[in-house]
Amino acid sequence: MTEIRRATEDDTAALVEVLAWLPIRSRVIETSPEGDLQVNKDRLRNPYWCTLVAVDPDSQRVQGAAVGYDSRYFESATAHSGTPPIAKLEDLAVQSEYERKGIGANLVQAFEEWARSRGCVRVEISGGPKPAFYEKCGYERQSPFFRFVKNL
Ligand SMILES: CC(C)(COP(=O)(O)OP(=O)(O)OC[C@H]1O[C@@H](n2cnc3c(N)ncnc32)[C@H](O)[C@@H]1OP(=O)(O)O)[C@@H](O)C(=O)NCCC(=O)NCCS
Repeated sequence: MTEIRRATEDDTAALVEVLAWLPIRSRVIETSPEGDLQVNKDRLRNPYWCTLVAVDPDSQRVQGAAVGYDSRYFESATAHSGTPPIAKLEDLAVQSEYERKGIGANLVQAFEEWARSRGCVRVEISGGPKPAFYEKCGYERQSPFFRFVKNL
């Protein structure tokens, strides 16, 4: 049984390992002045951001991770768009040896719960190489942007 929880700074090495190989750099991974990959601690702590890890409760090994944010993070304090907030799931990765065990779907579901708790009305996911996975999670593909959306 896999446990899904919010990532902490103690998960830094595991997050770098799980997320670093995604084709697009994760929004919580950055390069240190020394040139090493590290986690953006501000985003890890920021309430508008959600970084989740899927953990094997016995070994404590991180099996996967999901990173996203509440769209209000990118709105300035004074400029309210007037549209209901949405959540964007930016990065999702499951270690290859743990694929097809439901961990990815559990991470997406936990992200949706976080988004709902913040009052977001929709989750959006941009692209990704496995559309069948998102469709199985209940997302609808929007053309022509290759975006997947689900109303909460
Ligand atoms: C995409 C990814 C997150 C899916 O995670 P996962 O834990 O393997 O997925 P799940 O086991 O929760 O799959 C749920 C359902 O999605 C569908 N699905 C998942 N992977 C699939 C694949 N490769 N082909 C077709 N359908 C797939 C299946 O219907 C699956 O249910 P089933 O196994 O009972 O048939 C994982 O494969 C991954 O990390 N891939 C590499 C990185 C990536 O592509 N990230 C997403 C874009 S940033």
